[in-house]
Amino acid sequence: RRVAILISGGGSNMVALLRSMTGDHPARPVVVLSNDPEAGGLARARELGVLVAAVDHRPFGRDRVAFEDALQAALAPHAPDLLCLAGFMRILTPGFVGPWKGRMLNIHPSLLPLYPGLHTHARALAHGDREHGCTVHEVTEELDHGPILGQARVPVLTDDTPDTLAARVLVQEHRLYPAVMRRYVTGDRTPILLP
Ligand code: GRF
Repeated sequence: RRVAILISGGGSNMVALLRSMTGDHPARPVVVLSNDPEAGGLARARELGVLVAAVDHRPFGRDRVAFEDALQAALAPHAPDLLCLAGFMRILTPGFVGPWKGRMLNIHPSLLPLYPGLHTHARALAHGDREHGCTVHEVTEELDHGPILGQARVPVLTDDTPDTLAARVLVQEHRLYPAVMRRYVTGDRTPILLP
């Protein structure tokens, strides 16, 4: 399988995915694409020998469709057959998602269906949750609501701040996403639930 990874920032999940695609892994990374030309993850992808591309979303203003057409144009030459959103912070319209349904994954830092959207760690703390975590799901037209392919749980500690909780979740993201992607590319949709 030809995997394209979409990022917006540091790309730590992208690095974890790249590091997992070695040896007899059935998938290979064909491009890392960012909506921010300055994203730190682009340099990390280059260091790992992966082609990179950037489509700056800012010149497109509120014209999401034009931005997504540019994304598609940047992806097309690499002919990916699986998109992994990894810290990708732009909302994609149904027009973009539709053709990729069943071939696009995302990792979200909460135990969906809890806390779709942003600021998930602060919301879990504010709610007094004793457990939190991350979810890998298939991307569908409804934001953060696609079929769940995997989850990893972490305890919430009494002195946690959003940052300390986010750091604990991120460690699990780096375990969960590669495990789910590897199973997914074999056609197995059985959810992975990491303790
Ligand atoms: C992190 O908050 C992570 O929880 C979420 O996206 C953000 C950046 O991740 N998935 P990354 O380091 O760019 O992969």
